[in-house]
Amino acid sequence: MKHLLSLEKLSAADFLKILRDAKIFKAERGAHRTSPLAGQTWALIFSKSSTRTRVSFETGLRELGANVMFLNANDIQLGRGEPIEDTARVLGRMIYGAVIRTYAQSDVETFAEFAKIPTINALTDAEHPCQILTDIFTFEEKRGPIAGKVVTFVGDGACNVPVSWIFAAARLGFELRIAAPKQFQPSAEILRRAGGKVVVTEDLQAAATGADLLYTDVWVSMGKEAEAAERIRVLGGYQINAALVQLAKPGALVMHCLPAYRGKEIDAETFEAHADTIFTQAENRLHTQKAILNWCAA
Ligand code: CP
Ligand code: NVA
Repeated sequence: MKHLLSLEKLSAADFLKILRDAKIFKAERGAHRTSPLAGQTWALIFSKSSTRTRVSFETGLRELGANVMFLNANDIQLGRGEPIEDTARVLGRMIYGAVIRTYAQSDVETFAEFAKIPTINALTDAEHPCQILTDIFTFEEKRGPIAGKVVTFVGDGACNVPVSWIFAAARLGFELRIAAPKQFQPSAEILRRAGGKVVVTEDLQAAATGADLLYTDVWVSMGKEAEAAERIRVLGGYQINAALVQLAKPGALVMHCLPAYRGKEIDAETFEAHADTIFTQAENRLHTQKAILNWCAA
């Protein structure tokens, strides 16, 4: 049985299969030759807000032939304190697979262990694997293989999105630069576990120079709202804007996982100049997650 809980554990062969299949699912949308998930019922169990992840998974599951139910964690007994182990053992006897968005990474791991059904991490505090698989698919769709390229992440370098980028870098052979203030840099432990070519620096300009892709994410991730004022103060300046894009390689891509806060991690002008890439990236969640579902359910 396969789960997608973290990119740390995904082999290079599995990365390549998912990226290859995403291209096919995108090309064949509306005319899929098979319904690989026909007859299966999947649940989305979400403890945090979502627009893209929820809609792309619900749509993708239906288009691959599955039935899908959305469970807001607050509406089920989990939200009143029923243990994740018990929730998992109940659902595992009823449904075929689960897509989970929550806080603790250990919760998706416990769910997978106890439910014994394919389980997909749809974002935890630690990682956002579906997003980064999509981002790499989007980069390669526009620029060819990411191996050997330079990806620069700007902003909160310790949150879920850059951490999943860190695990992808070693596997796919690109250079990752993370430009972040000291207190928002990834832990030495994660960098050690991941290996690969990852540069972490406070020097935003140096990190952006010659990059093939400039990437950012919100300064205040879900669950960190109490720290908003401090984050905005410390992260101020770690922004993708026209001056930063000037330092990147000519024709460099700009991406944002969304939602975007204009004037904070990206300025409005740069966001609009790269809106086509950014919204293609959002659309590609659908195609890439179909490939992930197909891989998990096989
Ligand atoms: N990028 C992303 O995961 O968006 P949502 O929070 O809207 O799902
Ligand atoms: N780092 C962000 C990603 C949102 C898709 C968060 O966790 O809120």
